[in-house]
Amino acid sequence: MKDGYHGTGPGAFTPDGCAVDLYARLPVRDEPEIIASAVPPPATLLELGAGAGRVTAALTARGYTVTAVDESPEMLAHITGARTVCSSIEDLRLPDRYEVVLLSSFLVHAPDPAVRAALLDTCRRHVAPGGVVLIQREGANWHEQVPRESRAGDGIARALASEDLGDGTRSVRFEYEFPDATWTQTFRSRPLTPEQFEQALSGAGLVLDRNLTSDGIWTCCRPVD
Ligand SMILES: C[S@@+](CC[C@H](N)C(=O)[O-])C[C@H]1O[C@@H](n2cnc3c(N)ncnc32)[C@H](O)[C@@H]1O
Repeated sequence: MKDGYHGTGPGAFTPDGCAVDLYARLPVRDEPEIIASAVPPPATLLELGAGAGRVTAALTARGYTVTAVDESPEMLAHITGARTVCSSIEDLRLPDRYEVVLLSSFLVHAPDPAVRAALLDTCRRHVAPGGVVLIQREGANWHEQVPRESRAGDGIARALASEDLGDGTRSVRFEYEFPDATWTQTFRSRPLTPEQFEQALSGAGLVLDRNLTSDGIWTCCRPVD
């Protein structure tokens, strides 16, 4: 696993500490409605860091034509009904351009600014003229409201800790408890102020168009002409 990333529990893990068997059972939430509020189906959609297809399946069911990208072949093996591409997001260079590029799961909070820039460059490289890049950010107080817990299917997701590492990054620890299994994931995050987020977008030739949710977590961004 990558430095600072760790996972425990049954089954295979991704380089960023996600448990494949966990993500294969987590239910979709309101992501499809939020995405449809920006661009209703049908549309071509590039999903970066698609995991086991938790959101992918709901998107294809709605009529999006999805290309799902992940660096974990074990995750991608769970996806049906969408084209899958096994690649790091940073290295992705597909010949196609998409009406929607989706960068969710807080990946924009990569601790290394160079990685964040490379992720956003990939978004910019693959968005069609007139298309949008939808980015999921951490909410305000995301790191302060710890511990907290929420339902996750028939299990419970707990944010157990968010430790300030003193260099602008944090080490975050989650636990997922189900009747038959428990997983943990530890990962790194670099919180971004709205100004830092917009600066990062600008560096990739993107601009914030609008927030899709009132909490500012889901954003709709556009390529700069
Ligand atoms: C937290 S999981 C979320 C999966 C999916 N988006 C969901 O919401 O269920 C993050 C996924 O992103 C993938 N991932 C993280 N960083 C990546 C990178 N740089 N390149 C490709 N895949 C990456 C991981 O392998 C993992 O499957």
